[in-house]
Amino acid sequence: MRYKEFAKTGFKCSLVGMGTFYDALWIAQAMIFGLQRGKDRKLDALKAGLEAGVNFIDTAEIYRSESIVAGAIKGSKRDELFVATKVFQWHLHEDAVIKSCKRSLLKLGTPYIDLYQIHMPNSRVPIGETMGAMEKLLNDGLIRAIGISNFSLKQMQEAEAALKKAEISSTQMNYSLVHRGVEKDILPHCQKENIAVIAYFPLGHGKLVREFVGYAEVMKSVEDKKWTPSQVALSWLFSRSEVIFPIPRASTRNHVQLDAQAADLQLTPDQMQILERYNLA
Ligand SMILES: NC(=O)c1ccc[n+]([C@@H]2O[C@H](COP(=O)([O-])OP(=O)(O)OC[C@H]3O[C@@H](n4cnc5c(N)ncnc54)[C@H](OP(=O)(O)O)[C@@H]3O)[C@@H](O)[C@H]2O)c1
Repeated sequence: MRYKEFAKTGFKCSLVGMGTFYDALWIAQAMIFGLQRGKDRKLDALKAGLEAGVNFIDTAEIYRSESIVAGAIKGSKRDELFVATKVFQWHLHEDAVIKSCKRSLLKLGTPYIDLYQIHMPNSRVPIGETMGAMEKLLNDGLIRAIGISNFSLKQMQEAEAALKKAEISSTQMNYSLVHRGVEKDILPHCQKENIAVIAYFPLGHGKLVREFVGYAEVMKSVEDKKWTPSQVALSWLFSRSEVIFPIPRASTRNHVQLDAQAADLQLTPDQMQILERYNLA
């Protein structure tokens, strides 16, 4: 596994992380019936990722997967892991942020969260109030870094301006070969400020696990032909910029292992250029 520093946190995260959003039906069943379909297999998959050297796991209070993450990280050295979760957009008033964070800490079974992210902006809550609460959590040692997700550049800059002392460490956005909107203004801003861009749906929500245009041509130029389409799609992200961290979701041991191995594939500028020629987005 290869690692690189996550923004200015000083922490070295694996080039490939693990996402834990299963699907909307899975969440609904967990919320209504307390069911966690395929829990053992999902837990085993996360453990396989940790065994392969992945140290970055992303979850969210709304995903109902924090307890599975807790099971996976139990017994690991806490300071060797980077655990990220998110506060939902309906919980952005000050008291609600603090309450959500404490609930997530309990579910995750950890004394602190490495990265606490605002899942989505909410125009009904002043951003200053939410960022004030995030800064309080940081000062109290309950979280180690502040992140956002699904914010436009303007919303991001408002959030940055609302912080008194702390800085935003990351933004989490839909980003892959088939979804490149982030490159317009958010990625350049993040590169300039050394803010991490966590790429969600890095496999295009499953579209890039099958052979895509340009894959065969890239393979011709790679010495070792073993790489799968999903590994090329993941490598395209982290080879593109130091600030990008893909977090594929995989529910089986085999898929997680393949995703983790992608970290060993560094695409060259020529290979990146091949993929640039095709407009997959
Ligand atoms: N911030 C946000 O608003 C937001 C929104 C959506 C998602 N996210 C985050 O981003 C993560 C990733 O998103 P996603 O899970 O929907 O999309 P994704 O990672 O782009 O694609 C997931 C799909 O790819 C499959 N897959 C993964 N590795 C594979 C492999 N090596 N070979 C073949 N198939 C493979 C998975 O199958 P299996 O499950 O069967 O392994 C699943 O069907 C989420 O888990 C979540 O943490 C964030």
